[in-house]
Order: sequence, then structure tokens, then C-alpha cells
Amino acid sequence: MNTGRFIALEGGEGAGKSTQAKLLVEALEARGLKVVLTREPGGTSGAEAIRELLLTAEGEGWGARAEALLFAAARSDHVERLIRPAIKVGRWIVCDRFVDSSRAYQGGAGGLGDADIRELHRVGSEELLPDLTLLIEVPAEQVAERLAERDAGISDRIGGRDANYHAKVAASFSRFADEEPQRFARIDGTGTPEQIHQRVMQAVDRLA
Ligand code: TYD
Repeated sequence: MNTGRFIALEGGEGAGKSTQAKLLVEALEARGLKVVLTREPGGTSGAEAIRELLLTAEGEGWGARAEALLFAAARSDHVERLIRPAIKVGRWIVCDRFVDSSRAYQGGAGGLGDADIRELHRVGSEELLPDLTLLIEVPAEQVAERLAERDAGISDRIGGRDANYHAKVAASFSRFADEEPQRFARIDGTGTPEQIHQRVMQAVDRLA
């Protein structure tokens, strides 16, 4: 039977994940696979509603613990209603961010720690992990240039945190990739979208 696969793209702000996710979906579809492109936070109507609360709500914002719980709740809905059912019927899932974002942002940079984030993921999503996590890495100074162009001074509540926070995010992702080399593929995110896409496809071919 045709079994589905679950691929997540991870990285800091402005790493080019969304562009690479689209190119990956097109390449897999060209191979005749049925693919679902989705993202976090979001992907289902409930999770998209939580996304609004997390990224754009007015007011004082969330504390680190509430923020982590909201991400886990959004993920729980996304996993139960979309990701698991799609894998079951043989779809390939391409997901722009997944639990490693919570581990890096809330766990590493936000100070909650990895054990608590993993525990939330156990309760919320029964520990579902991607078959492959593509970590797209770009040097911090290049990211700053890209974001200045892309966001023109407007960024969401989390994207707009200071450089120290984002450096901790990057260091956390890097550590996760070192710890689980069989699940992670580190992708050099410099160069043209097409060059990066070639690197992505080499990593994805490990799954075939
Ligand atoms: P998004 O618009 O997807 O940003 P990007 O284009 O950088 O991927 O917004 C998601 C924001 O939420 C981003 O700043 C990362 C953050 N985030 C977390 O802090 N924890 C999480 O678990 C996830 C999925 C995202």
C-alpha cells in the first residue's frame, strides 16, 4: 500500500521555508504523489483561529507558558483533524513549521525547556514526529537583510522579538539537528531558490 510521508520545514524568520515548501510540493506532485501543503500555527480552522490569537491579538500578549500551551493546542487540532487522517490515506504532508518550532522558540529561546515542550506534545499530539525535518539555515546577517525587504518594519508578535531571542532560536534548531541526524536534514539556505530546492530534493530522496 502507498504510505504517506510527513515532511516538515523548519528554520528562523526569513529562511525561505514557505518558498521551499511550495517548490517541494510541486516537485512531489510532478512525481504523481498526492500532497497536502499546510503550515503552523494553523492548517485547520480551529488552529487558524489560535494563530490569530498568538500572532496578531491586541493587548499585552501571552506569557511564555500560555503561549506554549496555545501552540500545542493548535498543533493538536491540526494533527488530529488533518495530518494523521491524510497520512493514513497515503498523502504526503509538507508542513511549514511543526513541533521543533515550539522546541526552539518557546522551549529554547522562551526559556521553558525541552522536557516541558515534549510533554505538551505528548499530551496534545501523541508525540507525532515528521519522517523528515528539513532545517533551512541562513546566516543571521543575511536574514536581517531579507526581513528588512520582506516585512518593511512590520512583523508579528514573535517575529518581532530581539536579535538575542532569534539567536537562541537558531542555536536550538542547530542542536536538535545534531542530536537527531536521522530525522533532520540541514539545508544550506543561501543561494537562489532553485539551488536551495535542489538541496531539498537530495534530502527528500532519502525518504523514497
Ligand atoms: P509565520 O508567519 O509562519 O512566520 P515565518 O514566515 O517566519 O514562518 O509565523 C509563525 C511565527 O510563530 C514565527 O515567528 C515562529 C512562531 N512559532 C513559534 O514561536 N512556535 C511554534 O510552535 C510555531 C509553529 C511558530
